[in-house]
Amino acid sequence: MSVRTITLTVNGETSTLEVPVGMTLHQLLSEGLHHHEVKSGCYIGECGLGTIRLNGRPVNSCLVFAVEADGAAIETSAAETPEPGRLSDLQQAFVDFGAVQCGFCTPGMLVSARALLARTPKPTRAEIVEALAGNYCRCTGYEPIVNAVEAVANGTYVPKPAPPAPYVGGEANRLDGPAKVTGAATFAHDVVVPGMLIGRLLVSPHAKARIKRIDVSKAKAMPGVKAVLTGEDVPWKLGLYMEDKDILARGIVHHQGEAVAAVAAETWLQAKLATLAIEVEYEPLEPVLDVHEAMKDGAPQVHPGLAEYSWMKGVFFPQPGHNVAHHQKIRKGDTAKGMAEADRVFEFRFTNPPVQHVPMETHTAIVTARPDGEVEIVTSAQSPFTVRHLFCHTFGLPLHKVRVRVPYVGGGFGGKAGIHLEPLVYCLSKAAGGRPVKLAATREEEFNTLPSRQGLESIVRTGVTKDGRITALEATYLWDAGAFADYGVNVGRAAAYSGAGPYAIPHCKVDSKVVYTNKIHGTAYRGFGHLEVLWGIERNMDLVARALGMDPYEFRRKNLLRVGETPITGEPF
Ligand code: FES
Repeated sequence: MSVRTITLTVNGETSTLEVPVGMTLHQLLSEGLHHHEVKSGCYIGECGLGTIRLNGRPVNSCLVFAVEADGAAIETSAAETPEPGRLSDLQQAFVDFGAVQCGFCTPGMLVSARALLARTPKPTRAEIVEALAGNYCRCTGYEPIVNAVEAVANGTYVPKPAPPAPYVGGEANRLDGPAKVTGAATFAHDVVVPGMLIGRLLVSPHAKARIKRIDVSKAKAMPGVKAVLTGEDVPWKLGLYMEDKDILARGIVHHQGEAVAAVAAETWLQAKLATLAIEVEYEPLEPVLDVHEAMKDGAPQVHPGLAEYSWMKGVFFPQPGHNVAHHQKIRKGDTAKGMAEADRVFEFRFTNPPVQHVPMETHTAIVTARPDGEVEIVTSAQSPFTVRHLFCHTFGLPLHKVRVRVPYVGGGFGGKAGIHLEPLVYCLSKAAGGRPVKLAATREEEFNTLPSRQGLESIVRTGVTKDGRITALEATYLWDAGAFADYGVNVGRAAAYSGAGPYAIPHCKVDSKVVYTNKIHGTAYRGFGHLEVLWGIERNMDLVARALGMDPYEFRRKNLLRVGETPITGEPF
């Protein structure tokens, strides 16, 4: 790749640099010049995390080639800090208004806000919203951010005084606020380890297929490539509750987006080009894409070896032959009797779609397989001890050999619970002779390769008397677990506990089934299990009340649990 010499002034410091012509300004700033306050989340100008000011104008640095910035003055969010240890009015307002949570979006947000105030010192609220529309935030709901900018713009902002010593019910300062508004906070995405290689994935285009042939010889011979792995090189099974997931697909691909090969190379581009040189011949197979179809006798089995996969026998109950990873049953009383006592019986069906968490920082792991057998893992995971425990379990390593470090996490919402990229990146590091390897998922991989909230179908039967007493409730919850059970087994289990809502119902029957399909796999997501089923239960209460001609509020009051009564799980309320 040809190289050009350019001159740049970044936050007042001018340097002359040699840059490849294909390098983006984002790559130059974040990777080349270590301005880690310039974040990234999509690399296609959608998220605004990489916003910088180029000659005063806010731009997405991932959409500008470095050579195009020759002679330019660039300001990152670091320019917002007046001096070390002191915050600007905007930075302090972000902290005081709660405009900073995970903080991954904050540097880009501050750049856009400052650019607005520079060109329009007294913007309207609508102009603030418009100016920040290109900067995504997944944590704050935007309101506190707009409030902070508005207060600074209209001169009403007064920094909060330092709170008194913390006590219950008192004010508290956000301790990590200053690190996040100055861009000093380090996330796994920002971490650079000396000698680090970059990992990339090749994923399946098919929902289900047999891998007939996979040829990595061209990829291995490409410049900068240090390791190429396929499923046959990494014969370990992974899983939180069911050991059903290959590190890379072996023999059979279970969903579109499943990784079938991985590369570690000196640069992102070399790794990407190497994945494109891998030849895979697939034989497409019939996928199962619907939970009802999946549970039928004779349905194609997502995991024919399911009977052996549960390593928590007696706690989780798979049903081999029916694509059920776990069936949680809760019984109270006798629902046949309760339905017989009812004047009317209603049945409603509710669906919740799968939902992606979309953390602004994508899943990232940096792993070093050291020559002494110790393993260093830096990860964006929410559950470092789970990562260590499952990692050691998978590879048969003692716990003291594996160190897991989690810097600041740029949003997780449940999607970073459990173990995800770490085992693969460890295998890449080993294959590359122990060099550290970093793998950061692309936004597409977040949707297609990493887990989402499971879709749910709820079928709720309710027996009621004419005066609005619920005599019996039968609920069936069908979770679309996708190709791997992962955290989804626990989601289905937790859901069953809330499966009849907060109501005193004498006869209840709840069945929560976690069903495999050839789709992206499910995991935890904010209040996992409970909120999805409670949405259906409460919608059911509205519909039954209306059918009875009752006020939905009165219907609920009439059936609420009271002191001394028991929910379906049996403990006195
Ligand atoms: Fe905005 Fe987390 S604070 S993405």
